[in-house]
Amino acid sequence: MAEFVELTTPRLLLRQWKDGDLDRWAELNADPEVRRHFGSLLTRAESAGSLEAFRTELAERGWGWWAVQLRDGGRFLGFAGLDPVDEEAPVEGVEAGWRLHRDAWGHGYATEAARAVLRYGFQELALPEILALIAEGNTPSRAVAERLGMTYDPSADFDDPTLPPGPHRRTVVYRLRPSAG
Ligand SMILES: CC(C)(COP(=O)(O)OP(=O)(O)OC[C@H]1O[C@@H](n2cnc3c(N)ncnc32)[C@H](O)[C@@H]1OP(=O)(O)O)[C@@H](O)C(=O)NCCC(=O)NCCS
Repeated sequence: MAEFVELTTPRLLLRQWKDGDLDRWAELNADPEVRRHFGSLLTRAESAGSLEAFRTELAERGWGWWAVQLRDGGRFLGFAGLDPVDEEAPVEGVEAGWRLHRDAWGHGYATEAARAVLRYGFQELALPEILALIAEGNTPSRAVAERLGMTYDPSADFDDPTLPPGPHRRTVVYRLRPSAG
C-alpha cells in the first residue's frame, strides 16, 4: 500500500475521499449543467461506486483523483487529480482533470487545485508530460487548461469512444511539459 499524499494550496486541501463526501459528490454528478459535456448523468449508486474506486486507487497508488475541500470550513467541492489516459483513447500518457460542484465555480478553485496537481506530477512523479483531454465545446475547462499554461495540440483531436454517441465525443488535447510548468 502506497503512502497517501495530501496536497495543500492557499485555499484548498486535496485529500482522501470520505463517506461524508457522497451527498455532494452525487448531487454534482446528477447536475445536468456539470455533466453537460459528458452526455450522461450519474445515479447515486454510480457516484458511490466512483467514490470507492477513487479512494482505493489513492490508497494503493498514493495519487489519482483527489477529493477537493475548502481549508476554511471544510466544504467538499469536487475533485482534481491525475490518472493514466484511458487505453481506448488514441493518445498515451497521464492526464490531469477537474470537476467541481456548481456552487464552487467562478472562484479560481479548479485552477488552484490543478496547479498543485501538476506540480506533484512533475516534481514527485517526474512525469515527462501531462495531458488534459477535454470536450471540444467545454469552454470553461479549456480556459482552466489555458490558465495552467497548457498548449492545445490540434493534431490530436479525436472522438472519445468511451462517451455516449453525440457531439460531446469530440475531444481536444492539451499538453504541458515540466519546463513550461
Ligand atoms: C471546468 C470547471 C471546473 C471550471 O470551473 P471555473 O470556476 O470556470 O474555473 P476556476 O475554478 O479556475 O475559476 C475561474 C473563474 O473564477 C474567477 N475567480 C474569482 N475569484 C478568483 C480568485 N480568487 N482567483 C482566481 N480566479 C477567480 C475567474 O475570474 C474565473 O472566472 P471567469 O471564467 O468568469 O473568467 C467547471 O466548469 C466544472 O466543474 N465543469 C463541469 C465538469 C467538467 O466539465 N470538468 C472538466 C472535464 S474535462
